[in-house]
This record gives sequence, C-alpha cells and structure tokens, in this order.
Amino acid sequence: MMAAEWALFTKSTFASGVESTIAKDSSPLGVTSSFQYWDPYPISVVSAKGAWMTDVDGRQLLDLSMGFGAMLAGHLNEEVIAETKAALEGGMLFVTPSPISRDGAERLCKRFEIDKVRFANSGTEATMYAVRTAKAYNGKSAIVKLEGGYHGSYDPLTVSAKPDLDLAGNPEEPNPVVGKGINVGVVFVVPFNNLPALEKVFARDHESIACFILEPVLENLGIVLPDAGYLAGVRELCTKYNIVLIFDEVKTGLTAGPRGAAHRIGVQPDLICLAKSIGGGLPLAAFGGKAEIMDTITKGAMAHFGTFNGNPLAMAGLRAMDRLCTEEALATAEAFNKQALDRITDIIEEFQLPAHTVGFGVKGCVTWSKDPVRNYRDYKATDFAIAELSWLWSMNRGIITPPGLDEQWLISLAHGQKEIDLLVEDFRAFAVALRS
Ligand SMILES: Cc1ncc(COP(=O)(O)O)c(C=O)c1O
Repeated sequence: MMAAEWALFTKSTFASGVESTIAKDSSPLGVTSSFQYWDPYPISVVSAKGAWMTDVDGRQLLDLSMGFGAMLAGHLNEEVIAETKAALEGGMLFVTPSPISRDGAERLCKRFEIDKVRFANSGTEATMYAVRTAKAYNGKSAIVKLEGGYHGSYDPLTVSAKPDLDLAGNPEEPNPVVGKGINVGVVFVVPFNNLPALEKVFARDHESIACFILEPVLENLGIVLPDAGYLAGVRELCTKYNIVLIFDEVKTGLTAGPRGAAHRIGVQPDLICLAKSIGGGLPLAAFGGKAEIMDTITKGAMAHFGTFNGNPLAMAGLRAMDRLCTEEALATAEAFNKQALDRITDIIEEFQLPAHTVGFGVKGCVTWSKDPVRNYRDYKATDFAIAELSWLWSMNRGIITPPGLDEQWLISLAHGQKEIDLLVEDFRAFAVALRS
C-alpha cells in the first residue's frame, strides 16, 4: 500500500514537486522551517480560507494542521482581519509602549490568571526567556526537562527532544542526549508521568536546579495525557524543593480551552509560555506568571529584549482571539472534535485496528498502538509505518495533517460538520483498505 500511495502522491502533486525543486536553490530543503519538509517533497500552498487550503496543483485540501494550532480561528478569520486592518491604520511598529500592547498584556493576564506577562515573537523565545527568568529568580542554573519534550530551539531545551533509543539509556533515569554543536549547561532528563523518578533527581540536585519545564499535556508525541494526580504531584515537588515550575503551553494554550491547559487540569505553574493559538495567525508569543518571579525583569536581573515584541499587528491578532475564543465558541469546536474521536474509535473497534484515539480540547489523534502511551518510550513503541501510511493516505485524498507523525489534528472555529464527516469517512476508507 505504501508504494502505491507514494506513486499516487507524485502523480497528483506535480506542481508541488517543481516548486520544491526551484525553492531548493534559495533555501535548504526548499522550506522555511525544517519541520515543513518531507521526502520527496512537501505540498506547496498558494492560499487558505476557513478550514481549506489550495495547493499549487489547484487541489482543495482540508487543513487539519491549522498552522500547528496558530490558525485556531481559521484562515483569514474576519475578526482577525478587521482588528489587523484597524491596527494598521495607526502604524506597524512603535518600539515604545502603546495602549494596544498594554491592552494585550491585560487581556492575557486576565484570561490565563497570571500576574504579569512579557511578549515575544516565537515559542522558542518564550520558553528561552521563561527559563532565564527562573534562573535569575532563584539564582540556580540547572534545568529539568522531559524525555521527548519539545520546546523549540533554545540550546538546553533541545536536549532529548526526540533521542535515539540507542543513546537514551535507562527509561527511569534517561541520559541527556545532546545534539552536535549544542551548548546546554546542566540539563537533567526525566520520564513523563513518573513522580518517583522526578523526586529522585530533585532530592539529589535541588540545590542546583532552577526550573522544571514541561508541556502539561505532551502534544509533540501525538497527544500524551498526564496521569491523574501527576501534575499536582509535580506542583508539590517543585514547591517542596524551591524549583520554578514552567508549563509550556505553546501548543496547548487556547486549544486546550478558554484558559489553557493549566486551568483546565487545575494545577497552577509559576510561569507559563504561550504562542501559536493566542495570535490569530500573527507571530506572537508570551511568557508570564507570578509577579514575584516576573519582577526579576523589573529589577534588572533578567534582560528581556525584542524589537518586534508587542507590535500592533500581533496585538491586534491577540485582541481578536481574545474576543473570538469564548467558552461557547471553543465548546462548539470541542464538541465537533469529540464527535470525530468517538466515530473514529468506533471504526477502530469495527475493524479491530491496533490503535486508539486520544483527544484534548480541540485536538485529537490516532495513536497506532493498543496500549496507552504514557511517556516517550511508549511513544517509540507505536507503529510508525502505519502512522505514515495513514498520513499519506489522507494527503492523497485532500486532507492535510502535520507531517511529523507525532502531531495531531486541530478542529478550528472554522471547521464544521462537513469537515468532521470528511475526516471520519476518510479514516473509514483507510480502515477498509487496510483490512482488504
Ligand atoms: C510545546 C512547544 N514549545 C515551543 C515551541 C516552539 O515554538 P516556535 O516554533 O514558535 O519557536 C513549539 C513549536 O512547535 C512547541 O510545540
């Protein structure tokens, strides 16, 4: 099936192939972020509206990636456009305070129940600055992160993001696996959903550990949910050992619910990182949290800079998202997501597929294993070959999901019953093909 699907891919995406060949002359791999590439070439898109994209071959594609969550409102959402146009009337960049950036900060503080916030332009910046703030706050320097945890490109946070199992060592006490040319300082790596392993590291090294950074729900390994009580236990241990707890909500954020994953799960971190969904598709990120910790910036102990921070266009995107992401709007999208998950679960049972579904907020995924995935080692034991085949199958039938095989679909405010039916029926056709 795989060979037939790749043949179908190259046959139906000729113009994307040509575009990729030309783009390789000016950009490595012909893409603007290495995530976007796959072999032999990725789909090249010319426009997008609502939940749909048009590629250079003229195919209409149902977008279930939605900019990894950044397009939560849908492509070219009218509110986002209206706010952005209104902001443009007043200028594009002031690099000095403005009521629109103050307004943006107030909105984020209120919505995510944090005292103070600073803006940045990417998730990478937000996680980097959050870690630096934690270090400046308690004067310690080591970082604890999860095996399999992805937080962007800040050197220490790339440790063991997706380590080779040959190098990863003992699952209970994983080795920190460091990429070539990366400078990391001291980074300890722990397995997700394992409080004893975490406490062991904290008890031994708490005098040097500044912070523990994790996604409250892992959304770079499909979707991996925290065990009941795990995050509350993490909170307790961080408090006990005077370690700053950072939730990376770059991916969860508004896709987890109107106040993010921390609020939904009921565990409050010390610092939170936001990006993607908060900006309506404009480049926007933020980090914030307790006043006592954020005031290390006030005191000059942590330097936070950025020419484009809090620029009016990004603030306009934030304003629009704040207005759009009501309890009701997100509940509607979540109900569509739940419907998709339930129907796909039924198909998995009907066809006895070695898979299960996982959902959180407006996101969902099919995990190709019978057993639940609780950490990186479980994720590595899932069936990547069927995952790739399933992704390629959908791509060939006009449904685009993220290329990483470790991502998930996103039901945006622009997806409706028609789109859910397409997602489910495509999965059914795939199940039929697998079993025939
Ligand atoms: C959890 C998480 N943190 C941080 C980042 C980095 O964000 P950016 O790509 O905006 O730098 C990502 C990106 O996918 C992410 O998934």
